[in-house]
Amino acid sequence: MIGRLNHVAIAVPDLEAAAAQYRETLGASVGDPQDEPDHGVTVVFIELPNTKVELLYPLGDASPINGFLEKNPAGGIHHMCYEVDDILAARDKLKADGARVLGDGDPKIGAHGKPVLFLHPKDFNGCLIELEQV
Ligand code: CO
Repeated sequence: MIGRLNHVAIAVPDLEAAAAQYRETLGASVGDPQDEPDHGVTVVFIELPNTKVELLYPLGDASPINGFLEKNPAGGIHHMCYEVDDILAARDKLKADGARVLGDGDPKIGAHGKPVLFLHPKDFNGCLIELEQV
């Protein structure tokens, strides 16, 4: 069901420093910060030849990244995003198999303008999983 790895998201305590490190130390192609108010994050996209990395930084007091950074002050891997062809069919299969879909269970439009869903990390070996329909 899942296809390509679309991106790995890393929560960072200092967005400017993290972007500079990927640009200068790791020599990656790093975009400009983008605010995503619907998701409570500011994102920097890093384009790699085979996938993307997203640096996530909290936007606003209610950001879901605040709690993550409290527990992981140095930052850390926040989620992995896998591509699916049909997000509603994927959701229905996962729910039938007992996986928990976060939120109201309906896809939201993600940072790339495509429908996304998140799956409970406790159901997937401690890893928050994002599904994106491509
Ligand atoms: Co993501």
